[in-house]
Amino acid sequence: MIGRLNHVAIAVPDLEAAARQYRDTLGAKVGAPQDEPDHGVTVIFIELPNTKIELLHPLGENSPIAGFLERNPAGGIHHICFEVDDIAAARDHLVAAGARILGDGKPKIGAHGNPVLFLHPKDFNGTLIELEEAR
Ligand code: CO
Repeated sequence: MIGRLNHVAIAVPDLEAAARQYRDTLGAKVGAPQDEPDHGVTVIFIELPNTKIELLHPLGENSPIAGFLERNPAGGIHHICFEVDDIAAARDHLVAAGARILGDGKPKIGAHGNPVLFLHPKDFNGTLIELEEAR
């Protein structure tokens, strides 16, 4: 059911420093910061030949990654994102298998403009998994 690894998201305490490190030290193609007020984050996408890295930094009050950075002040891997062809079918299959969907269970529009869902990390070996309907 799952397809390509779309991205690995890393929560970072200093977005500019992290972007500089990926661009200058690691030699990657680093995009511009994008504010995502609906998701409470500012993101920078890094394009790799086979996938992307998504740098996440809190935006505004009640950011969902503020608590993560409190527990992991140096930053850390926050989630991984797999592509699926049909997100509603994937959701129904996972719910039937006993997995929990975060939030109200309805796909939301993610940072790439495609529908996304998050799966409960306790159901997947402590890993927060995002599913994105690839277009
Ligand atoms: Co993501």
